[in-house]
Amino acid sequence: EKDGYDWFMRKEIFEQPRAVADALLGRHDGDGLLQLDEVRISEDELREVDKIVIIGCGTANYAGLVAKYAIEHWTRIPCEVELAHEFRYRDPILTRNTLVVAISQSGETADTLMAIRYARQQKARVLAVCNTNGSTIPRESDAVIYTHAGPEIGVASTKGFLTQLIACYLLGLYLAQVRGTKFGDEIAAVVDELAKMPDHVQCLLDSAEQVYELARTYAGTRSVLFLGRHAGFPVALEGALKLKELAYIHAEGFAAGELKHGPIALIEEGLPVFCVMPPRGRDQLHDKMVSAIQEIRARGARTLVLVEEGDEEVTRYADELIRLPVVPTLLQPVVATVPLQLFACELATAMGHDVDQPRNLAKSVTVE
Ligand code: M6R
Repeated sequence: EKDGYDWFMRKEIFEQPRAVADALLGRHDGDGLLQLDEVRISEDELREVDKIVIIGCGTANYAGLVAKYAIEHWTRIPCEVELAHEFRYRDPILTRNTLVVAISQSGETADTLMAIRYARQQKARVLAVCNTNGSTIPRESDAVIYTHAGPEIGVASTKGFLTQLIACYLLGLYLAQVRGTKFGDEIAAVVDELAKMPDHVQCLLDSAEQVYELARTYAGTRSVLFLGRHAGFPVALEGALKLKELAYIHAEGFAAGELKHGPIALIEEGLPVFCVMPPRGRDQLHDKMVSAIQEIRARGARTLVLVEEGDEEVTRYADELIRLPVVPTLLQPVVATVPLQLFACELATAMGHDVDQPRNLAKSVTVE
């Protein structure tokens, strides 16, 4: 059942090209027009939506953070992202025109389930992004977009996350199509880029050995930091979570702009810091990230830089370079996450941990 892999997690990481392709399958026609028939909320109702609230826990919450950048940019609908367990305890403002998007791989997470029950009582519409057919969260939602990743057995979410990103992009583009906030050809251009994702992910997997070698040199490390900006910020959070869960190493993700507001005090000689470089299209962000990397390097950190092919500006400040395919900024999380998954999986293996069943964790958290 593990198909020759040592862990389900590793198998699931390697299934991602197929999972991403399946998540896209049948959801757009040849002209890039989106067909999300499964969204059983009428187009009229979708045109009335004036706020989106995305809820989820753990990795699903990070998928939501990425989704916010894309959905707001494409639809201009204000979008909030909230941890499901915080949501209903703060008296959130919900109306009939609020679309609550509940992201859950398992569809059984109690915190998320309680949150959608609350949202429906307040008359909001609830759309689930879920991987598990017939699970409780989609059953109790008004509509569902299934992520079609196939069963995810490793406790650490991998293909679940990548396909949640895809489903959220599709939702954002669909809303833009229905509401007319983007022209058809603009939507088709993004769909084209999405269609290339399975190949991009495959390329990264083909060079897994480079990341594995790197990971093995870090067994015994006490702390690792992750920096990103814009859509790369949730990637930093996800990279840190994988490392905490699997390697039991202290790991933290930061928005790089926040460094000077405190975290830079943590930087010391030899501290490994992963840096997710924004694509060059985002000039300002790109330059700012280059200076952040310079700053931490000057203070002795070891910089492990994820950067797109052809971007040479940062090479001299990088102790290690991990190359990423060239993709649009909003879609970069799909590719940038993969090396971080490989790193955590391999480091935990090198440290002798049970990667599929990390201590103290359950695959689906069915208690609040
Ligand atoms: O099944 P769900 O997507 O609702 O699960 C949410 C989180 O519990 C889950 O993503 C958790 O953070 C993973 N172990 C992360 O790898």
